[in-house]
Amino acid sequence: MSVYPISRPRRLRRTESMRSLVRETTVSPSDLVLPLFVVPGTGVRRPVVSMPGVDQTSVDELLRDAEEALGLGIPAVLLFGIPDSKDETGSSGYADDGVVQQAVRALKRAFSELIVITDVCLCEYTSHGHCGVLQGQDVDNDATLPYLARMAVSHAAAGADVVAPSDMMDGRVGSIRTALDEAGFAEVPILAYSAKFASAFYGPFRDAAESTPQFGDRRSYQMDPGNAREAIRETLLDVEEGADMVMVKPAAAYLDVIRGVRDEVECPVFAYHVSGEYSMVMAAAERGWLDGDRAMREVLLGIRRAGADRIITYYARQFARGPR
Ligand code: PBG
Repeated sequence: MSVYPISRPRRLRRTESMRSLVRETTVSPSDLVLPLFVVPGTGVRRPVVSMPGVDQTSVDELLRDAEEALGLGIPAVLLFGIPDSKDETGSSGYADDGVVQQAVRALKRAFSELIVITDVCLCEYTSHGHCGVLQGQDVDNDATLPYLARMAVSHAAAGADVVAPSDMMDGRVGSIRTALDEAGFAEVPILAYSAKFASAFYGPFRDAAESTPQFGDRRSYQMDPGNAREAIRETLLDVEEGADMVMVKPAAAYLDVIRGVRDEVECPVFAYHVSGEYSMVMAAAERGWLDGDRAMREVLLGIRRAGADRIITYYARQFARGPR
């Protein structure tokens, strides 16, 4: 490689057209998935205070948001439900007329081309707020699997295009795959939250989804933030159990993990740019401490550059509306 003055890297940075010509990584709306929070009722649109720009909505309002996303070129949404009632086993999560099931039916009826992904986890539906059923104070792994499988099947029966288990129980991908196949949903793919870390960055989401654990924390099932090699192990186990797509979560604080997973598997790799990662940029922007739109675009680009094929982000619509 020649050096200065032969070599002048600035030659390729002189104009936006030149920079654009040689840009290695880009983000487009078609790379993004928009998470949506659905609540019972009609005409409900309740802003989530800790996530500016994000609302909890009833199904009718959800349809508007989904339509806007689709119109902006965002191909998929990820649904979370906030039910009226919660119990020990999260039964409102696998009820045929549950909030998510109703939302899926309405979305697929209105926009057949929109990819509807559902989050499969008990935490929004259990009275204790944990992602599985309890045995004393412990989350019982094996006893939880049938509930998750039942929830996934009920989502598929409602018409979900993809189910995405986020609970981090061992063996859930295999259990869900078997249950889907037995119920006649062999064609419904699984997007596994494979490397999901026990993160402080889920704070604002737990406000949005009303899913804060009533005691303890999630460290006995979500991964320890120090473990990148274990993330590969978790991912390979999920692929072996039948995951069609895998996910790393959070994203921006785990770029090395995204790269590691991307280099290890052939299937699509998603990264979840989570609530706290979104809200901290929004909060800094509100204070005038940085240019929120530019900062958000830079973070999303970084997540893509690290190796994520697709990004789940609350910023999807703002991103797709174009730079400000
Ligand atoms: C449910 C779930 C969580 C998120 C996605 N699915 C929260 C948690 O594990 O506490 C977090 C998403 C976000 O912070 O944006 N298990």
